[in-house]
Amino acid sequence: MIRVLFICLGNICRSPMAEAVFREEVRKRGLAKKIDVDSAGTASYHVGEPPHKGTQAKLREYGITTDGMTARQLWASDFDNFDYLVAMDASNVTNIEQALRKTDAKIFRFLDLTVHQKDVPDPYYTGDFQETYDLVVDGCEALLAKIMHDHPHLLA
Ligand code: 4NP
Repeated sequence: MIRVLFICLGNICRSPMAEAVFREEVRKRGLAKKIDVDSAGTASYHVGEPPHKGTQAKLREYGITTDGMTARQLWASDFDNFDYLVAMDASNVTNIEQALRKTDAKIFRFLDLTVHQKDVPDPYYTGDFQETYDLVVDGCEALLAKIMHDHPHLLA
C-alpha cells in the first residue's frame, strides 16, 4: 500500500479538498486498494470539524462527497506511516519539518509537481474555492503521475 497525506494549516479548506479529489481519481483508476489517502493540519484550531462549507460546496458541484471527513492535526507518527507528505504551501513545509523534526524528499510542496510552481492559494482568506479546486486537480494529476513513476509496477 502506498500512503499519501495532504497537509495544510487548518485541515478544513485545502488539504481535505486535495484528499477528496485525489481519492476520487485513485478510485476511478481502480487503484483504491493500492493507494491510501488522508489529510491533516499543522494547527489544531479545527480538529474534529468537517471540511469548510466552501470546500464541501465546491466538491459537491463536481459530484465528490466529503461525508465522514473530519479535521485532525499532524501526528509525529505520520512521518513513518506515509510515503508522500504533500504540503499545500511553503509555510506548511516549514511547519511540517519543524513539527516532525525531519527534512526529507517525501515532504514537498504540492504544486512544485506542476507547471504552476507555487503555493495553493488558501480560500479561507481568498474566498475563491474554484481557483483552489482547479489547481488541486492539476496537482492531483501530477501526483498520480509521480507515484506511477516512482512505483512502476503499481498497475501490474
Ligand atoms: P486551510 O485554511 O489551511 O486550507 O484549512 C485555513 C483554515 C483555517 C484557518 C487558516 C487557514 N484558521 O486560521 O482558522
